[in-house]
Amino acid sequence: MVNSQARPMIIDTDGGVDDALAIIMALNCEQIELKSVTVLAGNIDVHQAANNVLRVIDIVQPNQRPLVAKGCEKPLVRPPFNAAGIHGSDGLGELHQFKNADGSPCYPQLTIEPSSEDAIDVLVKAAQEYGSDLTIVALGPLTNIATALQRDRTTLQKVGRIVIMGGAVKVPGNISAAAEFNFFVDPDAAQMVMESGIPLTLVGLDVAMKAPLPRKDVENYAQKHPSAVAQFIGDCTGIYMAFYRDNEGFHGCYLHDPLAVGVAIDPSLVSTESVYMVVETEGKFTSGMSLADLRDRRDEATYPPNVEACLDVDTDRFLKLFYELI
Ligand code: RIB
Ligand code: CA
Repeated sequence: MVNSQARPMIIDTDGGVDDALAIIMALNCEQIELKSVTVLAGNIDVHQAANNVLRVIDIVQPNQRPLVAKGCEKPLVRPPFNAAGIHGSDGLGELHQFKNADGSPCYPQLTIEPSSEDAIDVLVKAAQEYGSDLTIVALGPLTNIATALQRDRTTLQKVGRIVIMGGAVKVPGNISAAAEFNFFVDPDAAQMVMESGIPLTLVGLDVAMKAPLPRKDVENYAQKHPSAVAQFIGDCTGIYMAFYRDNEGFHGCYLHDPLAVGVAIDPSLVSTESVYMVVETEGKFTSGMSLADLRDRRDEATYPPNVEACLDVDTDRFLKLFYELI
């Protein structure tokens, strides 16, 4: 139940597994009111991503259902790139594989549809309506937000803060040696957001990789707290966690997107540094790389800090919040 002091939030998402866990947290948090979920292509195509968001809402059954609106189907400039090999062909761990004892699907075809509203219009209208009270939590490539900036920069600049899951400051990338996935998919959009003048918090791989969720903890949780949500979390994370087991020797996953929602709820979970950051859009080997100026002799007059970059996280306190909100 949302309390009367709840702060308005919009989640912009590419509809993958960790996005789903993040949305569950937001739907269950009394301190925020999730007004809308805007969707775009990233982990999976925009239509499937919207369906995945509706699936999560259908399972959580919140008292107030956020509007779900579809946005960009591809990056601003670069060709589409997805992560179906990591999140499953449906973006949620191949939910169609799960059957009840009578053979019926555990996750049947949904009867609800996304709004007919365009996600970009939803973002611009929310910026106008809620202004500095609004927090946007961006969990995918930044194409929707960049497009909203192109459509009405002045209005978007009224937004209080954008908490971005993306980038990496002092650690390597994940989808390439240089780049984190969300920034790799649409580096041009990421750089446009860096130049936007909107207060930004970057929840990058520096802290996301310090928020692990082991497979055994998911299974233990589902046994101790049986529910449709716990069952869904166990089901949708199977393939995603197997990817990390087979490729990184860790049977679990990292809570990239849930941490971004956690930071939006409680900024004290992380320590940050104000830095000037750019995103490489031309590099043959470094496209999508987030480059922060960490030099002692940085020229802040010429290159003023444009992002609060998260460099450390209180993992135990975050995981406590995560389990409270799922
Ligand atoms: O690099 C991790 C990010 O890319 C997460 O948001 C994940 O869902 C994918 O979008
Ligand atoms: Ca995501």
